[in-house]
Amino acid sequence: MAVATMAPAIAEAQQGLLGDLLGLISINGTVFCTVNGNIGVNGTATPVFPNAKVQLQCGAGNVVASATTNGSGQFSIALNPLLNLLSTLLSNCSLVVKTPLSTCNANLPSVGGLISSLKFVQTTLVGLLNIAEIIPASFQFLPVLN
Ligand SMILES: *[C@@H]1O[C@H](CO)[C@@H](O)[C@H](O)[C@H]1NC(C)=O
Ligand SMILES: *[C@@H]1O[C@H](CO)[C@@H](O)[C@H](O)[C@H]1NC(C)=O
Ligand SMILES: *[C@@H]1O[C@H](CO)[C@@H](O)[C@H](O)[C@H]1NC(C)=O
Ligand SMILES: *[C@@H]1O[C@H](CO)[C@@H](O)[C@H](O)[C@H]1NC(C)=O
Repeated sequence: MAVATMAPAIAEAQQGLLGDLLGLISINGTVFCTVNGNIGVNGTATPVFPNAKVQLQCGAGNVVASATTNGSGQFSIALNPLLNLLSTLLSNCSLVVKTPLSTCNANLPSVGGLISSLKFVQTTLVGLLNIAEIIPASFQFLPVLN
């Protein structure tokens, strides 16, 4: 009967859909307007870097995703864990800020940019969604960027 043969197909379709929706890799962080892009000695009073373009680069400079920091210097990149292995992200990808630091402070370099490796924080369950949280380990200034 048609009904009997349809049921497994629906179950399969739902499983595929749920598989896509149930996991998320979230990379977020703040870029500061300092010589190295990190928070300074003045803590939360450290100026931030708004409108900075942040790229997620993997392997030999492949741009996998990108985001722009908002008025609070914060950016956020969401990835599908089915297409992006957490272990590969952590071992072979970096966050790269190509917008020159001089954009947020004319006394900072107008060439080069910032780079950081990725750091896994934790996995949190939000409803049915399993979110793997990743942040920049620590930015550093590079005079020449790929
Ligand atoms: C990044 O996400 C975590 C967890 O959702 C949150 O606590 C943190 O404030 C966020 N940081 C930024 C800079 O958005
Ligand atoms: C920290 O704040 C003080 C007082 O506003 C300021 O003079 C100093 O330059 C700041 N230091 C940095 C590294 O921003
Ligand atoms: C990491 O990147 C290098 C350079 O592109 C590549 O040769 C290597 O296969 C990558 N490793 C993984 C685990 O993706
Ligand atoms: C920047 O994004 C963060 C995280 O989404 C949000 O909490 C903050 O209010 C935003 N700031 C501005 C100025 O939009």
